[in-house]
Amino acid sequence: EKRLKIGLLGLGVVGSGVVKVIAQNSAKILSATGIKLEVAKVLVRDGEDKKAIADTYGFTLVQDITAITEDPEIDIVVEVMGKIEPAKSFILSALKHGKHVVSANKDLIAQYGNELVATAQQNECYFYYEASVAGGIPILRTLSNSFLADEITEVFGIVNGTTNYMLTQMVENHLAYETALKQAQTLGFAESDPTNDVDGIDAAYKAIILTRFAFEQDLKMENLTIKGIRGIELADLELAQQLGYEVKLIAQTKNSNNGVYADVSPKLVAKNHPLASIRNELNGVFVKSTGIGQSMFYGPGAGSIPTATSVVNDLAVIAQNTAENVKVRPFARYKSEIKLQKASD
Ligand code: NDP
Ligand code: HSE
Repeated sequence: EKRLKIGLLGLGVVGSGVVKVIAQNSAKILSATGIKLEVAKVLVRDGEDKKAIADTYGFTLVQDITAITEDPEIDIVVEVMGKIEPAKSFILSALKHGKHVVSANKDLIAQYGNELVATAQQNECYFYYEASVAGGIPILRTLSNSFLADEITEVFGIVNGTTNYMLTQMVENHLAYETALKQAQTLGFAESDPTNDVDGIDAAYKAIILTRFAFEQDLKMENLTIKGIRGIELADLELAQQLGYEVKLIAQTKNSNNGVYADVSPKLVAKNHPLASIRNELNGVFVKSTGIGQSMFYGPGAGSIPTATSVVNDLAVIAQNTAENVKVRPFARYKSEIKLQKASD
């Protein structure tokens, strides 16, 4: 039986989920693809408290990245450490050593996607990152594959689980902002530093990635207007409720003859709009296109197992492509020229 050996970088909320999801689904993936996925090595900073999980699942803990990137037996690297460095250098090194890469790191993919994608292409490696936007919702592959005969004009919705969880809990359980944030952190929805969640930065990274998949345009952070939910109080949310609205942190990107416009901000959403009913860490992405019209994709936007399932599905696609000898092509296509729309257009 053919195996693909995995080097996992990071054993936190998502990384430990990846180990479990592979263990639970490797027989199914083997029967679908003829290839067994095996977590061989896991990069950690401090291995002491991770020995038990390593013994249970039968992988080796390493503290030096070269034990993974320079191991010819490792076929795929899964990066779930987060932040820019050293994740970026580790991914580039893995690709240059001919290893396929799967990541959930939207910070990195939004800001350095071009360089990573080019390096993956040069080395004929797959570089997939479905879990980087909207956690468990398979939105990137859908935008990439299911709108080829259509023209997307707008993508908008709730793409940050932490802030949606906070806004829901504040209204439903009368929690203060800080208490709701602490709960989102405990549940594993927030980033290790939740500043990016509450200030709309995380949603902006996701809007940049969605823009690539929807419009083949590569926006920079400075091209977006970004406002988060910091400073929102329970009284603001209750007033909105009385007027018939929910407050939701909405990311949007739209394309017209005038160019692309993207922003993130808290918005009043009428209670009868489908996005208003999306509670807690769930996300919802609305797509407007000329052919289909309106479609909405809904599901868990954060959390260990839903996110890890999306990561492992990327691994299964690599296994399938490997089994079928499919030519490597970029996950997203994007043009080098950006045509921006002014906010006032
Ligand atoms: P965690 O903080 O729970 O896990 C990150 C892990 O990586 C930690 O165990 C950390 O170790 C380890 N790590 C960080 N730097 C290094 C390093 N230099 N060497 C070795 N190990 C390192 O984060 P999450 O699992 O929540 O998130 C991981 C990634 O997935 C992020 O990019 C995040 O944005 C993304 N993501 C997360 C989702 C979620 O619901 N949590 C959903 C979708 C995407 P240590 O314990 O020592 O700090
Ligand atoms: N912190 C992110 C969120 C994780 O809350 O949406 C999923 O990308």
